[in-house]
Amino acid sequence: MAKLYVNPKHQLGHINPEIQGHFSEHLGRCIYEGLYVGENSEIPNTNGMRNDVVGALKEMGIPVLRWPGGCFADEYHWKDGIGPKETRKKMINTHWGGVVEDNSFGTHEFMELCRQLGCKTYVNGNVGSGTVQEMSEWVEYMTFEGVSPMADLRAQNGHPESWTVDYFGVGNENWGCGGNMTPEYYGNLYRRYQTYVRNYKKGQEIYKICCGANVSDYHWTEGVLKTTHDHAEHFHGFMNGLSLHYYTHPGDVWENKGSALDFDEDKYYKTLSKTLYMEELIRRHGAIMDQYDPDKFIGLIVDEWGTWYDVEPGTNPGFLYQQNTMRDALVAGINLNIFNKHCDRVKMANIAQLVNVLQAVILTEGEKMVKTPTYHVFHMYKDHQDAELLESYIETQKIGGENCKVPNLHESVSLGRDGRIHVTLNNLSATESYEIDAVFTETEIKGVEGTILTGEMHAHNTFEDPNAVHTEKFDKVEINGQGLKFTIPACSVLHLAVEI
Ligand code: AHR
Repeated sequence: MAKLYVNPKHQLGHINPEIQGHFSEHLGRCIYEGLYVGENSEIPNTNGMRNDVVGALKEMGIPVLRWPGGCFADEYHWKDGIGPKETRKKMINTHWGGVVEDNSFGTHEFMELCRQLGCKTYVNGNVGSGTVQEMSEWVEYMTFEGVSPMADLRAQNGHPESWTVDYFGVGNENWGCGGNMTPEYYGNLYRRYQTYVRNYKKGQEIYKICCGANVSDYHWTEGVLKTTHDHAEHFHGFMNGLSLHYYTHPGDVWENKGSALDFDEDKYYKTLSKTLYMEELIRRHGAIMDQYDPDKFIGLIVDEWGTWYDVEPGTNPGFLYQQNTMRDALVAGINLNIFNKHCDRVKMANIAQLVNVLQAVILTEGEKMVKTPTYHVFHMYKDHQDAELLESYIETQKIGGENCKVPNLHESVSLGRDGRIHVTLNNLSATESYEIDAVFTETEIKGVEGTILTGEMHAHNTFEDPNAVHTEKFDKVEINGQGLKFTIPACSVLHLAVEI
């Protein structure tokens, strides 16, 4: 019997809804086919956006969407993607598959997509190959109200009203695909470029995100903060966020990441153990940030995370299309629990990527669409959005293979806006179920509603069988005063909404 302790009297911080954010890049079939099919498509759409996908994402509770990349962002010239579609510049997407990018999805389309989704906007600017003027004009084009060259151009292109840019990324992976820079060089560019990311709208400050590290590159975090911090006494209006990218891949080398569907128990546990590494990354990058920003003003923005496997056989290697199993559901559950537990520093996180790319929540094929196990996890976790993190602890034992041990259970708990306590608990064991005895300090429990996602570790949804993995009501919970007793099945993600 494992004990889960929850202390509803001890709130540890606010969970930003954006912790459950998403990312969409001009990569493979994410934007084109996945989200946008154009007004003339036979696939039902509204202003070119797929109705089925938009409907599913709204139901899931998407809080924010990042666009246009990724590596694509530092090669993207936004003026190529505005004006009449017939005259938009065609280019080669050199990063991703060498396909023709016709720019039919640009700024107006992104803003329209976010309007339909009802989510916040996170636009990523181009530092690697773009000019300061270009970035400055883009912000003006999107947000300036009144008479100005860019606001006039926006009106000419059919949108007199300005939009809201909630988050703006000043470059992406500038240590790599975004220009191969050193932290000091980028830090100086950040100081310069961000100056022209102006706040044109009173009361709507753009949240500026500085390019942070890849995985455990603490040298980058240190170098960038050292180069920038003297300028910004309190970072206010200068740097709101610092990003971090970390992908889980179960291979020993990047060239052989392993298959999304064909894996054994060793690989399964290795994937989960590598996922748990996220905790150390947040702690260690956070410790460096604490030296420069002890008040935790700057958010750590994990704007790329998720599994990265070898592409599905027969698909374009540049399209990064992979299937998604119960293993991925656990990766999502673990990461989201970690972000919750570090909500004092982690202010946004964006899984890569929304549709048809890497750990997607949705896969499409022509007019067909499936929700992946990862989709269901986000849906189950949505009550954590805007909730207050509660102190919790679970007794665990080490399980897994010789060389990669993981805890059998992983949890986070919050007090939701609906007044209920939300427990999300993952059972990492591929084979064992566990009895749980949950204790809630000085709290009378009036009722509980449970939802579970469970299945054999390879279980996944296909276009032929889109509901093979689905959530079910979990009502085998016994209430006894201040506690709950239940058994969590092997390889599962559980959500309990506890009425107090
Ligand atoms: O998500 C795929 C790619 O991974 C992104 O374009 C890049 O930022 C990262 O290396």
